[in-house]
Amino acid sequence: MVMAAETGAALREAASALASSMQPQVAAVFFVSAACTVALAALLAVLRMRPPWWCACPVCEAYLTASWAGDFDNLCDWYAHLLRTSPAQTVHVHVLRNVLTANPATVDHMLRARFDNYPKGAPFSAILADFLGRGIFNVDGDAWLFQRKLAAAELASPALRAFAVRVVASELRGRLIPLLRSAACASGREGGGGGGGGRVLDLQDVFRRFAFDCICKISFGLDPGCLQLSMPVSSFEDAFDTASTLSARRATAPMHVVWKLKRLLNLGDERRLRDAVHLVDALAAEVIRQRRKLGGAASSGSDLLSRFMGSIDDDKYLRDIVVSFMLAGRDTVASALTAFFLLLSDHPEVAAAIRDEAARVAGDDDDGDGDDGRLTDSAFGKLKGMHYVHAALYESMRLFPPVQFDSKFAAGDDTLPDGTAVAKGTRVTYHAYAMGRMESVWGPDCGEFRPERWLRDGRFVPESPYRYPVFQAGARVCVGKELALMEMKAVIVAVVRGFDIEAVGRSSRRPRFAPGLTATFAGGLPVRVRRRARASGHKRTTRQCDETE
Ligand code: HEM
Repeated sequence: MVMAAETGAALREAASALASSMQPQVAAVFFVSAACTVALAALLAVLRMRPPWWCACPVCEAYLTASWAGDFDNLCDWYAHLLRTSPAQTVHVHVLRNVLTANPATVDHMLRARFDNYPKGAPFSAILADFLGRGIFNVDGDAWLFQRKLAAAELASPALRAFAVRVVASELRGRLIPLLRSAACASGREGGGGGGGGRVLDLQDVFRRFAFDCICKISFGLDPGCLQLSMPVSSFEDAFDTASTLSARRATAPMHVVWKLKRLLNLGDERRLRDAVHLVDALAAEVIRQRRKLGGAASSGSDLLSRFMGSIDDDKYLRDIVVSFMLAGRDTVASALTAFFLLLSDHPEVAAAIRDEAARVAGDDDDGDGDDGRLTDSAFGKLKGMHYVHAALYESMRLFPPVQFDSKFAAGDDTLPDGTAVAKGTRVTYHAYAMGRMESVWGPDCGEFRPERWLRDGRFVPESPYRYPVFQAGARVCVGKELALMEMKAVIVAVVRGFDIEAVGRSSRRPRFAPGLTATFAGGLPVRVRRRARASGHKRTTRQCDETE
């Protein structure tokens, strides 16, 4: 593993050099752009006058006029409502040529039984091509199979798993826990209390940095060092978020010709997307350069990128693979952990049950708060035995799946098990967010956060992945699932045992999401952090801060 400072500095240098080269070039470009914007606005105004493709059904009217926003905070909440009230648990948004489903039989049909008829498809690839290129998320057929086989074999190997445990343990001990301790103590002193106040911290941002460091170390053998105290949000992180948000926005446009035209003319969102993608390209190139410079020695060749480099010479292809793994490992894990701690803030009884189980399984001494490095490798081995923690995490992702929905495009005409006719080229979407909130799937208490629903005699019992497609299901099920679960459980146990986390002014009942490829809370998750005192037995109290902290 390389030192964080060297790699982090090189990545940041490349980012700022590229960002400064992206200033507007000449005034002429500005005037041409302005003229094109006016022309486009006029075109849009004409199109808003009920063009031929306008559909007057209530769902399409509500979508096109955004009248749904009067009753719902988020588009996903409106879709969940529509799917709950549909007898087939399936809805057709005609203007988007999009069939949405929350019906487990239909999910099984599209992800398993008729997998060949539901590829990602060319329209999806076009939407994400600038950002993800030919990366695993954006391809079908041989290109997908090649990347899938290589990644799956590597991620299942004992060497990579052991390497991943070491990475997560060191990121926790060396960065996350000290950062939380410092946040708890900073304002404890500021307010004159002994660790009782806690500086307000954006936990979503903290988890993104944590997850980004972890995935870069595990996948590329490089340490960007994002989770350093007082490190500002890097221009790379900004660019990554912008690229994700604007790529997702393309998919919501009723007429793709609009974003394609703006892309051609390099206007508005499309210009911002292009700039962001350039920055992402530069950073991915830097990752590949560093990895080449280091050869296999730095990480004993156990990282994913080294394996891909052994079979691929094409740097553009390698760039696409790098970006896909960054997206897969950073945003999903951060999203799941953020939602988990939001729910926990509303449910102290679940936090107490986690502490009880962790003390029972890992021992009372194995505190996890990093005081004396007791988050040992053997404690990681014990994570598997923590059924309640596992259940609480699954329950949290049921209500807040990091990937809220996922779309495929029908390669041929089909009829879904619920009777819905699907014409070739139709986008078919399974909606994991809605499925977690269906009474027909989870019973009348589907809106409640109840980890016990996953336990029988204290043991975790999995559900069918077609009822719970949080990691997708079938041939394209998430290959990083086990890695993600280990990482998230390690964070939960260490943080819950060492700290009390209180969401400031947020409730899991009224979440607001920002647009993007993965679920992100608008405005982050501001929290107050308090340390828990080490005490005998299971009872712990708020801990006094040492003067040295
Ligand atoms: C809470 C954490 C995670 C969740 C909820 C999650 C969920 C998902 C979902 C829903 C898909 C299907 C996406 C699609 O078809 O476009 C997927 C695919 C994938 N995930 Fe994850 N993921 C998580 C973590 C990770 C991590 C840490 C990795 C890193 C190694 C990873 C690697 C992948 C890859 C490579 C695929 C593509 C599989 C394929 O197309 O064959 N995931 N994941």
